[in-house]
Amino acid sequence: MKSSIPNFYKLPLREKLRILKKECDLNKEDLNLIYQYQKLPDFLDVENNIGPFKIATNFLVNGKDFFVPMEIEEPSVVAAASHGAKLVRYGGGFWGKYLKNLMIGEIQLVNISRLKKIKEKILENKEKILKLANSTNKFLTKLSGGAKDFEVKKVGEFLVLYLKVDPKDAQGANIINTMLEKIAPFLERITGAKAILKIISNFAIERVVKVNCKVPLDKLNVGTFSFKEVAKRIILAQELAQKDVFRAVTHNKGIMNGIDAVALSTGNDFRAIESAVHSFAARDEKIKPLSKWKIEGNFLKGEINIPLPIATVGGATTTKKAQLALKILKVKSAQELGVVAASVGLANNLAALLALCTEGIQKGHMKLHREFLKKLSSK
Ligand code: HMG
Repeated sequence: MKSSIPNFYKLPLREKLRILKKECDLNKEDLNLIYQYQKLPDFLDVENNIGPFKIATNFLVNGKDFFVPMEIEEPSVVAAASHGAKLVRYGGGFWGKYLKNLMIGEIQLVNISRLKKIKEKILENKEKILKLANSTNKFLTKLSGGAKDFEVKKVGEFLVLYLKVDPKDAQGANIINTMLEKIAPFLERITGAKAILKIISNFAIERVVKVNCKVPLDKLNVGTFSFKEVAKRIILAQELAQKDVFRAVTHNKGIMNGIDAVALSTGNDFRAIESAVHSFAARDEKIKPLSKWKIEGNFLKGEINIPLPIATVGGATTTKKAQLALKILKVKSAQELGVVAASVGLANNLAALLALCTEGIQKGHMKLHREFLKKLSSK
């Protein structure tokens, strides 16, 4: 399969669907679902919109091609993702992996008068506690996921147990909340303390995905700007994002344009992803850009490191629309989906920087926006 199809966005809708049908093995039922979305009052046949979502092209990730469904009202975000991916393709595509796949849930214990003793009691029962947590989801442990470890820390006047769980292809919230609610009464029994909050944390610092890419410098010409000038300006923009919180926040918003759109099309909890990503950007008490660009040899090199609690099973990923998006993506696991979503974020970041550093964002973005509004008002 090849997702690099020049001028895909200019093709008639039926031709776009013919390509997707062939490349993504769509069946009659899938196409019927798409036609039903096309009948909705707000559907517009513009750019890469096929009905339930728009399709970004050109993505080559870990050596595999992807058509990426993006659910977003703004056509220029999908154009920008495809544009960024096209440039990265010249450098061999995106390469990425998860560093860890753990989500953390916490239990707040109060009335901890004998702190040291209580902590010792909990640690003595570690194996029992993990076993109890894992008894809530035998299927997950069969897949070698489940509760792996925990830490106990004093936080103010509370003692907090942080449970670390590998949710495999699930987002993890339901799995972890169930585990926490199961072990809380046991903790109360062995410690005499009271368990108050039992909830997953969206500070997903142990579910971080890392993606790298490179673009040959000579592909960076924009209008009358030479590639050397463009590359230099991108580095200056990166420097500003490192030093200026106003810029860092907007830089990161541009990345999330793409990631949220993939999260939405695949039925994922984009609020949890937003919380994880922005808190990670601020983890050193100063908001930093989530991506980095540098020049090395004849390439502009990009890197992104973000927590991405994304799922291919459970919750709204089971809706017909999300299942269709996952079928188009052909991802084999949540981690593969996370690597693709992070690549989309990096592609959006690159395309936005290219426009911002040269002709300005309004030219390309507003052109598409105006066309979108014109079509909308003529409906
Ligand atoms: P261009 O150079 O005129 O595009 O850019 P091109 O004609 O050379 O086409 C390049 C590729 O872009 C195409 O490849 C398509 O894949 C795609 P091809 O098909 O030719 O092989 N493409 C399109 N895809 C779908 N519909 C289209 C379309 N046009 C091109 N109509 C482009 C035009 C809009 C891509 C460019 O100006 C761009 O990337 N602009 C950035 C737009 C953007 O980032 N929008 C997000 C909204 S702004 C924001 O929210 C975030 C921000 O604040 C973040 C930040 O500050 O960092 C900016």
